Amino acid sequence: MEIKGKKAVVFGGASGMGRATAELLAARGAEVAVLDRPASAGAEVAAVFGGSFHPVDVTEFEATENALAEAVDALGGLHVSVTTAGGGSVRRTLGKDGPHDLETFRRVLDLNAVATFNISRLAAAHMSRNEPEDPDGERGVIVNTSSIAAFEGQIGQVAYSAAKAAIAGMSLTMARDLGSLGIRVVAIAPSLFETGATEKIPAETRAALVKDAAFPRRLGRPEEYARLALAVVDNPMLNGQCLRLDAGQRFGPR
Ligand SMILES: NC(=O)c1ccc[n+]([C@@H]2O[C@H](COP(=O)([O-])OP(=O)(O)OC[C@H]3O[C@@H](n4cnc5c(N)ncnc54)[C@H](O)[C@@H]3O)[C@@H](O)[C@H]2O)c1
Repeated sequence: MEIKGKKAVVFGGASGMGRATAELLAARGAEVAVLDRPASAGAEVAAVFGGSFHPVDVTEFEATENALAEAVDALGGLHVSVTTAGGGSVRRTLGKDGPHDLETFRRVLDLNAVATFNISRLAAAHMSRNEPEDPDGERGVIVNTSSIAAFEGQIGQVAYSAAKAAIAGMSLTMARDLGSLGIRVVAIAPSLFETGATEKIPAETRAALVKDAAFPRRLGRPEEYARLALAVVDNPMLNGQCLRLDAGQRFGPR
């Protein structure tokens, strides 16, 4: 799908990979709305490229529906939905203080899997109203964010791994569900990236976490995620899968 002139929403667009994607979409001529938590830097980020900001907590599912509708109204339509809002927890299946609590497990599933599915289903409804675009009859593209922890979760990442595996797993089924409408769905699974989520990790821990990468042996940069997200939008043959963005990294158990 040609990016120039398209209408895009980025959930999680105030920081890290979402911010880089919002900025690159805008630089390539898309109109972009940033959706992120009320206390985020979303308003400042959107102001830089003349976009709109819509505060929302994606775990408030009805409020998300309203915030998305407001963003689509402001944009005058929707072609591209990118979701990077997400996060994890650290707890073992059975720890010193007993079994992993279900409340945390459900919270992480809600923040990643349920929120991402909620945004995807609602974005698809908006996209279905578009005129199909030549030559394939495309109407929209949904880009979601998994993690390589979906495939090689480390010790203590059980809730996060399950949630990110759900995002990877829903890609093909949603792509099939939405194929007749000309809407594509792709998840991106990053390795360790230099963002707000990882800035507090000490340097030696970061080095240890990327030491098994093939090349380059460093954290990924948010703009490298953004470049892949835009490649997904651009290339109609990318659909129904989860793309690893990991420099050949495979996480070990810790
Ligand atoms: N950084 C990494 O190493 C890494 C690796 C693999 C996957 N991921 C995933 O990438 C995604 C993007 O993370 P990032 O690294 O850019 O982090 P980040 O902290 O820089 O950005 C995440 C953004 O999402 C927003 N967000 C979080 N919870 C939200 C909520 N409930 N409602 C609305 N917005 C919310 C935050 O306010 C923030 O602006 C996340 O889903 C994360 O799990 C990150």
